[in-house]
Amino acid sequence: MQKRKSINKKTKEIVFDKTDGRCHVCGKTLFFNAKAGSRERWRVDHILQKSRGGEDLINNYLPICRDCNFLRRNYGSLEGKRILELGCGIGRFTRELALRASNVTAVDMTLGMLERAKDYTADITNITYINSRITDLDALPEFDIVFETITLLHILDEKEYRKSLEIMKSAAPYIFICEHMADSAPVSPYSKLRTFEQYEQDFKPFKLIAYDKNHYCAGDWFPMMLFKK
Ligand SMILES: C[S@@+](CC[C@H](N)C(=O)[O-])C[C@H]1O[C@@H](n2cnc3c(N)ncnc32)[C@H](O)[C@@H]1O
Ligand SMILES: [Zn+2]
Repeated sequence: MQKRKSINKKTKEIVFDKTDGRCHVCGKTLFFNAKAGSRERWRVDHILQKSRGGEDLINNYLPICRDCNFLRRNYGSLEGKRILELGCGIGRFTRELALRASNVTAVDMTLGMLERAKDYTADITNITYINSRITDLDALPEFDIVFETITLLHILDEKEYRKSLEIMKSAAPYIFICEHMADSAPVSPYSKLRTFEQYEQDFKPFKLIAYDKNHYCAGDWFPMMLFKK
């Protein structure tokens, strides 16, 4: 990995003002002097990444939040990517993914959730919704990445959990998960909190290529993990 050039305060101020203090990927409001670990924490991002010849120049910089930075640095851009989202719920991530990727296939077993997701994304045309349990999915087309947030912890049955993981592994070469872990307080009797190490073990032979144990999302802290085949 290329070494990061240190960027002085004046340059940071100019970069921050370019977007009025918002993340250039998701639009989240950032705080200039946010502390490490805070959700308003930000970094200077390269518009054209250094690995593609992007330069350390002010006109190649924009502010990025820590969450978007994680995916961008560790996975790259979602542009042109086909995403399988499992347990999409009311579509809050489906919308963000579809705005950036080529297409999203969003799966949820709860019809009421899918109806709300369809309403919420009615203006977007690159989403296919499927009403199914993960384990009941029929032959799927190829995807570039499987994405899920707070869905695996709702799969209590061990056999169903294992089968769901196998389906995820066969669907794409990358898997992104964001889950509460066993060291947080239990969220409800309908949840099974697993450990970071257990997910790492259970997703084998996929390798854990990036993680953030302190990811802030939807008003709470979650670890996020990115696996590669
Ligand atoms: C806590 S919600 C999370 C929704 C969304 N990922 C988010 O973060 O906003 C979990 C969702 O997963 C769905 N779900 C749970 N187990 C599932 C399974 N085995 N197959 C498909 N969907 C499932 C539920 O219906 C629910 O909509
Ligand atoms: Zn962002």
